[in-house]
Amino acid sequence: TKNIIAIDGPSGVGKGTLAQWLACKTGFHFLDSGAIYRSLAYGVIADGIDLQDVAALSELAKTLPVEFKATSILYKGDDITSKVRTEDVAAVASKVAAIPEVRQALLERQKAFAQEPGLIADGRDMGTVVFPEAPVKLFLTASAEIRAERRVKQLKNQGNDANIAQIIQDIKARDERDANRKTAPLKPADDAMLIDTSDLSIDEVCQKAESILWE
Ligand code: CDP
Repeated sequence: TKNIIAIDGPSGVGKGTLAQWLACKTGFHFLDSGAIYRSLAYGVIADGIDLQDVAALSELAKTLPVEFKATSILYKGDDITSKVRTEDVAAVASKVAAIPEVRQALLERQKAFAQEPGLIADGRDMGTVVFPEAPVKLFLTASAEIRAERRVKQLKNQGNDANIAQIIQDIKARDERDANRKTAPLKPADDAMLIDTSDLSIDEVCQKAESILWE
């Protein structure tokens, strides 16, 4: 399909919420690419794979036993939806995501989500690497402090522990890794529209995206 909307940006910027809202609104498929990296991290932790062992990491990435069912993530058939949301899993996800062989191994799996009638793709490199042909690309930004506050709220809602100072630190460390890695560093595609969500509510972000997409 050529109907692809790429939504990229750092963590806690409101990408996931916007992407899900757009998927509902359009009836398009939804790719949460971060969930693929998080599922890989889950497997790496479960199997005790060394983060230096590139061969083992890319082998697991190629054969990753993960399935996306409506709103749940199944790993070897087990529901890991809430287990992959922790900051521990996110930290490992961002470490394995810096390895070029791992990103390459996950490329085809991500591309396969582009089915009729269309796709809303949420991630860090949707507009730059995975779907450079996407006719619409949004890149969301917000200050690290605001993103950390949102993440704390989200984690608490999910029943996970959250300490704001720790989360700011985690977010900055991940931003740094995501932005400075050699393969697919986090940056807007040349043809992406930037939306700063720092002072916008979720509704306002959705309205803004809607006005960009359909007006
Ligand atoms: O929920 P949050 O935005 O914090 O993270 P996520 O989207 O679930 O992604 C977790 C980690 O996977 C990120 O910190 C990135 O390092 C990595 N990732 C990536 O490298 N490329 C993507 N397309 C999506 C995620």
